[in-house]
Amino acid sequence: MSRAGRWFGLWLALTSAWAGHAAARSAAETMDILMWNREPVGGPFALTDHTGKARTDRDFRGELMLVYFGFTYCPDVCPTDLMAIGQTLDLLGADAEKVQPLFITVDPERDTAEHLADYVTLFHPRLIGLTGGLDAIREAADAYKVYFAKVATGKGDANYTVDHTAYIYLMDRDGKYLGFFPPGTSAERMLEIIRPRLAAPQR
Ligand code: NI
Repeated sequence: MSRAGRWFGLWLALTSAWAGHAAARSAAETMDILMWNREPVGGPFALTDHTGKARTDRDFRGELMLVYFGFTYCPDVCPTDLMAIGQTLDLLGADAEKVQPLFITVDPERDTAEHLADYVTLFHPRLIGLTGGLDAIREAADAYKVYFAKVATGKGDANYTVDHTAYIYLMDRDGKYLGFFPPGTSAERMLEIIRPRLAAPQR
């Protein structure tokens, strides 16, 4: 192997080791992946719901999933999108039971199951809040190409916010990715996209 080849090999080894460690990708990178469908989106997760029950992605087979990552202290974007998700379910009427909305926290330290229980019920009785260990949350977020990072807002460990990308993912009855709604999508628009999917024959 040439000297350049060896260096290239070393460089590859180093960068892949680094990539293995750096689970967190930038917001721009995750956006790019989603925009151009560069990598698969979604995947298995094992978390705890707001009633304290263990949940995995497999629990929701046979239903469309609306998957949203955020956190309860989010001042603006999360509540707006969760409200739109709740309204979408209301507009779906009886068909709402074929759609499972999931709110996965990116702030598991503060968003305990008890805390999520108080929060998700504000938006819709069918909304399930999910939390877990930071590793489990990170794994789920990586699978969905969600960027999130803690940002200090003052002195002390408790003073922080969480930067995060806020897409609403639509998954099919087999848990496969269909597409995403950007933040701020209206309930009416979501309904337009979801209705035909519900009419599609079940495999
Ligand atoms: Ni948010």
